[in-house]
Amino acid sequence: MQDETRITTVRARQVLDSRGKPTVEVEVTCGEAHGRAIAPSGASTGRFEACELRDGDNQRYAGQGVLQAVANVNNVLAPAVIGLDARDQRSLDQRLIETDGTDDKSRLGANAILGVSLAAAHAAAAAQRMPLVRHLNRLWGQLVDSESAAGADDMCQMSMPLPMVNMISGGLHAGGQLDFQDYLIIPVGAASYSEALEWIVDVYRKLGSLLRDAGHEGYLVGDEGGYGPKLPDNESALSFVVQAIECAGREAGDDIAIGLDVASTHFFRDGAYYLKSESGANLSAAELTQRFVEWANRYPIVSIEDGLAEDDWDGWKTLTEALGDRLQLLGDDLFTTNVTRIEEGIRRGVANSVLIKLNQVGSLWETLQAIYLSRQAGYRPVVSARSGETEDATIADLAVATAAGQIKIGSIARSERLAKYNQLLRLEDQLGNEAPFAGGDIVRPAQRPT
Ligand code: PGA
Ligand code: ZN
Repeated sequence: MQDETRITTVRARQVLDSRGKPTVEVEVTCGEAHGRAIAPSGASTGRFEACELRDGDNQRYAGQGVLQAVANVNNVLAPAVIGLDARDQRSLDQRLIETDGTDDKSRLGANAILGVSLAAAHAAAAAQRMPLVRHLNRLWGQLVDSESAAGADDMCQMSMPLPMVNMISGGLHAGGQLDFQDYLIIPVGAASYSEALEWIVDVYRKLGSLLRDAGHEGYLVGDEGGYGPKLPDNESALSFVVQAIECAGREAGDDIAIGLDVASTHFFRDGAYYLKSESGANLSAAELTQRFVEWANRYPIVSIEDGLAEDDWDGWKTLTEALGDRLQLLGDDLFTTNVTRIEEGIRRGVANSVLIKLNQVGSLWETLQAIYLSRQAGYRPVVSARSGETEDATIADLAVATAAGQIKIGSIARSERLAKYNQLLRLEDQLGNEAPFAGGDIVRPAQRPT
């Protein structure tokens, strides 16, 4: 092993995320080379996510501190990985997982483990004097080589992702009345990532004026920077977004399409879906599916995330049969970036796309495996941020390096979001033809391999 890539120090500390909640930052050095990463944190978390360790004592940060996870890095994980080759992410992550010893990373904390895993990747890149995106692309190539027969070279070509961007927030991310969490726009007609971003900003501005003109004066932004207006019902948010697209001079559908993150698990109880914005209407999976079909007929919707709840496999089957050929049906809480859950979804033939969140599974190598499995099965991976984020922009490099094709970061306000959008602008500029834009077709459901 080259000495320059051997891990020499690992050090964690508590920092704050975009909600002012403590999170874990880790620094790894390989000699003079240095890498740093910060774990993100969700609000609408899935039941099958790896466990985020919080202190739970009410003395500090209302029990939300992560000092125990920090101590676990400094006292337990650091000695376990010092001396390892930081380039060998597979062995490193395996060591972290074994040291924890639980299935859900609950002993030492997924926030502790992910912090080390990502900081090591940053340090490995620095030690090799290589941009992170190239190091991640190399790791991705290793995984593709080890998992697939010859001829998978095309999987290793980098690409710039198509963004899906939050415009209006509801659910657990905003204080308004909307049940559904995200109303997103997807600039399917843009010719490049930077053009897509420009269109998004235009629509976001127009939407702000439209909401103000309609009397939703004191609109504030939600956790991910989307507007959080008090609208009368879930559908009115859709019509505002369509209007904003048109006011920005774009064709709703051909230029800019719509995505939803229903995040339905949080309003699913005892087999029914409760819509508080509709006087507590309580819908079956079939009725909610019917709602989506009607909306898909009337609005240029191309993607629906977590349309049904994480445990509602039968409902998901119905939803997939109804809309799977037409729309991207994205599983977030359903899959939790977990290979076993994704395999189950593939086996049952539900959904056709997988949201990829590093901290849902808790290590980089397992995340790459989830992306690979999804792509192999014809399920589209969408790399995603969490509602609690920081200046850490690793997911931008990850999406480009693995050619995931799509990315979901939140809105284009708030700097923890912009850190990623801006990193993508840098990568587009630096990589040029090496990372062509994935383009609008990526969001259309792929033909399933038979
Ligand atoms: P979360 O939201 O980070 O609060 O889980 C993001 C999402 O549901 O996609
Ligand atoms: Zn989601």
